[in-house]
Amino acid sequence: MKKSIQCRINYLKDELIRHDRLYYYKDNPEISDKEYDDLVKELKQLEKENPSLLTKNSPTQKIYGVTSLYFKQIKHFSPMLSLNNTYSSEEILKWYKNIQKKVMSNKDLEFIIEPKIDGLSVGLTYLNGVFVCGGTRGDGEIGEDVTENLKTIQSIPYKLRTNSPPELFILSGEVYMSKSNFEELNKKLIVNGNEKFSNPRNAAAGSLRQKNVQITAKRKLDFFVHSFLKMNPEQFQKQSQFLQCCKEYGFTIQNNFRICRSFEEIMEFVHVMLEKRNSFLYEIDGLVIKVNNFKFQIKIGCSSKSPKWAVAFKFPAKQITTKLKKICIQVGRTGVITPLAILDPVVLSGVTISHATLHNFEEIRRLIINEGDIILLERAGDVIPKIIKVVKKVTNGFFKAPTNCPSCGDKIFKKDVEKKIYKCLNLECPAQFRNRLIHFVSRDAMNIKGFGKALIDQLVEKQKIKTLADFYFLTENDFVDLVSFKEKKINNILDSIILSKQRPLSRLLFAFGIKQLGYNKSKIIAKKFKNMENLLNANLEDFMKIHDIGKVLAIELKNFFASEKVHYLIKVLIKVNVNMVEYEI
Ligand code: IVH
Repeated sequence: MKKSIQCRINYLKDELIRHDRLYYYKDNPEISDKEYDDLVKELKQLEKENPSLLTKNSPTQKIYGVTSLYFKQIKHFSPMLSLNNTYSSEEILKWYKNIQKKVMSNKDLEFIIEPKIDGLSVGLTYLNGVFVCGGTRGDGEIGEDVTENLKTIQSIPYKLRTNSPPELFILSGEVYMSKSNFEELNKKLIVNGNEKFSNPRNAAAGSLRQKNVQITAKRKLDFFVHSFLKMNPEQFQKQSQFLQCCKEYGFTIQNNFRICRSFEEIMEFVHVMLEKRNSFLYEIDGLVIKVNNFKFQIKIGCSSKSPKWAVAFKFPAKQITTKLKKICIQVGRTGVITPLAILDPVVLSGVTISHATLHNFEEIRRLIINEGDIILLERAGDVIPKIIKVVKKVTNGFFKAPTNCPSCGDKIFKKDVEKKIYKCLNLECPAQFRNRLIHFVSRDAMNIKGFGKALIDQLVEKQKIKTLADFYFLTENDFVDLVSFKEKKINNILDSIILSKQRPLSRLLFAFGIKQLGYNKSKIIAKKFKNMENLLNANLEDFMKIHDIGKVLAIELKNFFASEKVHYLIKVLIKVNVNMVEYEI
């Protein structure tokens, strides 16, 4: 029993860390905030019921965030906390009753409700009224020093507009990009052949964290204050007074806040804002309900991750109907076959959506969905749009899984354990190979810049890439007759290929795309085995001895390193000087 709970806990931890990385590091989340919160809830519950299994490094115990190598680190004066999310009036009521219980006297208790801006949180420090430094939230304790980038934002005053500034004033707020600036930026990016941002939050994060400050300046970012980290305690008694003062100091504040004194008043404003949510010039993903009085905030207190005196109410996902034009079959790098819905393009939250994930064929059967049907589409935050249901059935029945792989024509098999999954088992399948190549060059793997899917397709077609090692044999000549490949671009790609030879062993391991082996486990394994030679000499027991490595993965690893083809690949990689040892990054 205990063992299966431990397994579930390990799974949840891995998943949460993976989703944190996708959200914070890659700006490309796979699941909605609600789905993420459900995973956290489950993990918290299991840890509560099994306190001996709670570890300090559990995602429930710390704020996740990333700091890159490009920026200096900055330690926050006091931790920049996160907020607990609620999704229903029942959850708000539960929180509200708890506050009432803790405060006891209802007489002065006030709440302030503010829009929750969908941007990225930063902390700003003012010394004697002058902006001296600012950083991203990072892990809550340590963030990235983006002082110079923040100085380019017009709504962040360089000097506070007052004759008697506080000696030390540290506040936090949200850097964001308005919907119109976001659309304009995406248009420009596309014209210049760059990848566009999937939503204004990612655009704001990507634009602020630029090494070249000139780029940040051009991106037209904005800033709203929402809280303080350090100020003169005598100065204000309430959050509303703090916001008013910030306005006088020259900051922009959210004017759409309301002060409420009862649960009924809170809910009334929630409904007003639900109606108004699309009319804002920037994205808001919910509301933040805070206790207005600082004396009560202090009395109620904070947990290690979030204040107990505030809670976020997240808006439900936006929905729209459209026609499902076609269902395409995709073959992943491990041979998993997934259906992809091609839609009549629709605009939702300022983003044009032309495709949606269908997850698997079981989902198609459950939804009784087929090409031509009119469907209801949902987009929660930044996540890939999802089909919720059929609203008008145009064809009969549901779309059937193909019997043969659309790429290599081999028979498709249903996996035994997980009946929903269909796979192409042909290791030589071109679609799988293409996706293995895309994975090999990706950011967490060898991080070779400049290789889009289209370029990989062209190089494969021209037979310039037949194995993973072939990236290291590419020369200028292989690119010259490709459209839009000028000398500078080619040189950048070739430089990036050379740079990638220095990646630590963990990245190379991950880049191989071994089944079941994610980024975190690659790091654990590389740290234990230290170099490639040790991995090649390891037996099944050596892999199984590692905490966190189950039998299934151990077998995959053993089989991988026993393969003749892999031996040859590694030999070639060594010959071209690809690093084979683990070192700290
Ligand atoms: S108050 C102690 N107010 O939402 C935490 N946060 O999901 C103080 N956010 O990290 C946060 N709008 O970056 C607060 N009006 C608002 C906000 C807001 C957006 C962000 C903030 C926070 C995140 C939590």
